[in-house]
Amino acid sequence: MILTDGAYVTAQALVAARLGLSFPESRRADLERGLAGALRAVRTRALEPYLARLAAAPDDDPEWHRLAAHLTVGETYFFRDAAAFEALERHVLPALIAARRARGDRRLRLWSAACATGEEPYTLAILLDRLLPDFADWTVTLLATDLSARRLETARRGRYRAWSLRETPAEARARYFRPLRDGELELHARIRSRVAFAPLNLAADDYPSVLTDTTAMDLILCRNAMMYFTEAARRATAARLVRALAPDGWLVTSAAEASSELLAPLVPAGLPGVVFYRKAAPRAAAAIRVPAPDTAAPPPAPPAPRPPLAVAPARRPAAEPAAPSLARARALADQGRLEQARRECAAALARDRLDPEAHVLLAAIEQERGELGAALDALRRALYLAPDSAPAHFLLGALLIRRGERRRGRRALEAVLGLLERVPRDEVLPGSDGLTAGRLLETARAHLAAR
Ligand SMILES: C[S@@+](CC[C@H](N)C(=O)[O-])C[C@H]1O[C@@H](n2cnc3c(N)ncnc32)[C@H](O)[C@@H]1O
Repeated sequence: MILTDGAYVTAQALVAARLGLSFPESRRADLERGLAGALRAVRTRALEPYLARLAAAPDDDPEWHRLAAHLTVGETYFFRDAAAFEALERHVLPALIAARRARGDRRLRLWSAACATGEEPYTLAILLDRLLPDFADWTVTLLATDLSARRLETARRGRYRAWSLRETPAEARARYFRPLRDGELELHARIRSRVAFAPLNLAADDYPSVLTDTTAMDLILCRNAMMYFTEAARRATAARLVRALAPDGWLVTSAAEASSELLAPLVPAGLPGVVFYRKAAPRAAAAIRVPAPDTAAPPPAPPAPRPPLAVAPARRPAAEPAAPSLARARALADQGRLEQARRECAAALARDRLDPEAHVLLAAIEQERGELGAALDALRRALYLAPDSAPAHFLLGALLIRRGERRRGRRALEAVLGLLERVPRDEVLPGSDGLTAGRLLETARAHLAAR
């Protein structure tokens, strides 16, 4: 296959728009190689019709998945970048854990975005296992997402070649892995079960959202993916990740991707050998104490102004409390203030018990609180009131699958497809954080393909 100038420009624009990936002239040969691999797999040489088919297909089409696998690098390993994991284990996670313990809230929400075959989120799970002897008393969400369904499948199996453990300390290797007869190493089921894998395209606009459980994160790792993005995709992704953080949350990128300008309004925090970024609201900054910056690390920039809230509470005199509102409950949930969000949502429901949107929001909040039973109850009520609510079916499917009820979960996700297939793609769904029908449809399809 020869990539003509015209086809190069078409393919470059298409891949940038859908996957966020950048193929400037210096990487034209990589794009050509990736396209040639994908064409071989579908046994054709005709590039132009193939590109036209891709342009007409939604992002979750299997052909997009195939091409993405040819165009992206899945290289990763356990404890990749020792300094980063040391800073996480010695400083960031203990500080987060201490802050949560101090306010009597045993909840942590961590996300490995672009997790490839799972080594990164599993390393986080190992660190937490070492740091939380009372793990059973905590509600920990450890979300791991990637564009590639095939890599997620490998991640779920939890079996690795020794090469994936090349930087793993001997103690962790002995404690958390079991050698198999074929030479592979299997991660203990206890650690595997703590990570929830899900498909997510960082270049798409379906996050942060309570529906995809991608809000109010205490810590996000997004390493070695954005460096391959176009400038526009990098900016849009960084802005969404910043929004997905809790008010005192941390964002970790690789050294090559870190940039104060890109990640504003996060504040750089120098830790031994690394620079991480945090969303330090003035009060939260006092609660999380970070050790003095390492001399090798750049000095921290002055604190950036606080980001505006998605929905700011209306100012009212103290004597006249504001009426409970779903918008405020959603804004509180997005900030990780889950108890207040639940109270606000319950108060809104007390005024109107027949509002299905309020029940869906309550379900999402209960999911974030780790109260899956209460979340399912709220969804049952939502579906009783609005049997055609696609967001309610979607959340139900995701929750059931998380509880191990795969068949029922798949049925609920299939219901989403049935409900949305004929809805205009750009119609915004009520009670869905502004998600469009097309985007929720693609997200549901991607979840079905990945399981
Ligand atoms: C080099 S791996 C990084 C793995 C891990 N984060 C690490 O640093 O070791 C890059 C991963 O980014 C994923 N990726 C590339 N573009 C993506 C996108 N638009 N959305 C989500 N994941 C993407 C690829 O599928 C691949 O698994």
